[in-house]
Amino acid sequence: MLNADRTDPAVLRELIAAELLAARERTGLLTGAVDDAELAAQHSPLMSPLVWDLAHIGNQEELWLLRNVGGRDPMHPEIDPLYDAFEHPRAERPSLPLLPPAEARAYAHEVRGRVLDLLAASPLEGAPLLDAGFAFGMIAQHEQQHDETMLITHQLRKGPAVLDAPPPPAAEGTLAPEVLVPAGPFTMGTDTEPWALDNERPAHRVDLPAFRLDTAPVSNAAYQAFIADGGYREPRWWTPAGWRHRMDADLTAPLFWTQEGGQWLRRRFGHVEPVPPNEPVLHVSWYEADAYARWAGRRLPTEAEWEKAARHDPATGRSRRFPWGDGPPGPEHANLGQRHLRPAPVGAYPEGESPYGARQLIGDVWEWTSSDLTAYPGFRAWPYREYSEVFFGPEYKVLRGGSFAVAPVACRGTFRNWDYPIRRQIFSGFRTARDAEGEAGA
Ligand SMILES: [Fe+2]
Repeated sequence: MLNADRTDPAVLRELIAAELLAARERTGLLTGAVDDAELAAQHSPLMSPLVWDLAHIGNQEELWLLRNVGGRDPMHPEIDPLYDAFEHPRAERPSLPLLPPAEARAYAHEVRGRVLDLLAASPLEGAPLLDAGFAFGMIAQHEQQHDETMLITHQLRKGPAVLDAPPPPAAEGTLAPEVLVPAGPFTMGTDTEPWALDNERPAHRVDLPAFRLDTAPVSNAAYQAFIADGGYREPRWWTPAGWRHRMDADLTAPLFWTQEGGQWLRRRFGHVEPVPPNEPVLHVSWYEADAYARWAGRRLPTEAEWEKAARHDPATGRSRRFPWGDGPPGPEHANLGQRHLRPAPVGAYPEGESPYGARQLIGDVWEWTSSDLTAYPGFRAWPYREYSEVFFGPEYKVLRGGSFAVAPVACRGTFRNWDYPIRRQIFSGFRTARDAEGEAGA
């Protein structure tokens, strides 16, 4: 669908409607899996009650599509401040007079009905927000991003499992531990991806020295070796800020891990199970990823290195949309869209390999990079400053590639995510890199 002829308005309308529907089905699944009391409860001070996300999804859709695109009057102006993410931090949201679950559902449903009428009549061109259906694409991505947030809430929620999904595919073949990316320039970011967000733009050339990158994300087994070697007890592996945080927060292992009789267990969406050695490590902070990399005699890749390894095709010199090419992500390429409720083992998805031979760059786990979130040269805030610009600076580290919880519509080789270096309730893992300058073939 993502490769359909978007220049035909009828095709584009169908594509938009399908993406909006897919997002709403997922929202329905995530909010329908628990009762009303659990929907309204706060499962962690880090997260909103699920019922807040639900009405916020409807409110943003109303704001951007019905009001900004359609020129309609606000449906319920009195609720706008409740669902403004910048007005109320997450910890405060349960004490707000939020719409109860039935009303939140009815509101989101009513907005959606009107949006589909608007879409049917829209020329999908003639205004910047409308061109290529951008505002509709932005809203489909927004809902899917909140679905990922709601899945994090499900992971933090205590109590019996309510979600289920089949296991991901197995690993295939024997992988070399790392791939070589020779020195040279590549095109980072995009001018052509129709629903790319402002921080992914514009396309620009970046010249990088040669480097080596892990073929796949760091596994639980490798991470356990770091723990067993006293990685959490040795300040020399940590940055000063990382060590302070490790002590203050008493970090000793990834979030959701416990040790019983010498065996590591993890809690995953209500199931307690042995930590699978071959899966990418999940729920680690940037500080932990950075300490592991130093312990391993390596470092985190920069954001530019990650993107070059994922997109650059040395045969043609151009950057692809995805590691495997320009075609949309299929189930053979990557673990995306909550199809599975866990990352696939290290070495899965040979069809998703990049030209340099790296695997699982898209899907499975978000990958921490060493880079702060900054503007690309020529950046222009669009369509609102609060999407990215207010987050630029050294406080946030960039994550790349998406996790098993990210929908294809909200994932591409240029997509940038960011978070505080202490965060680990997110579906975060990492891979490591090292300089290869001066090596033969580099
Ligand atoms: Fe939002």
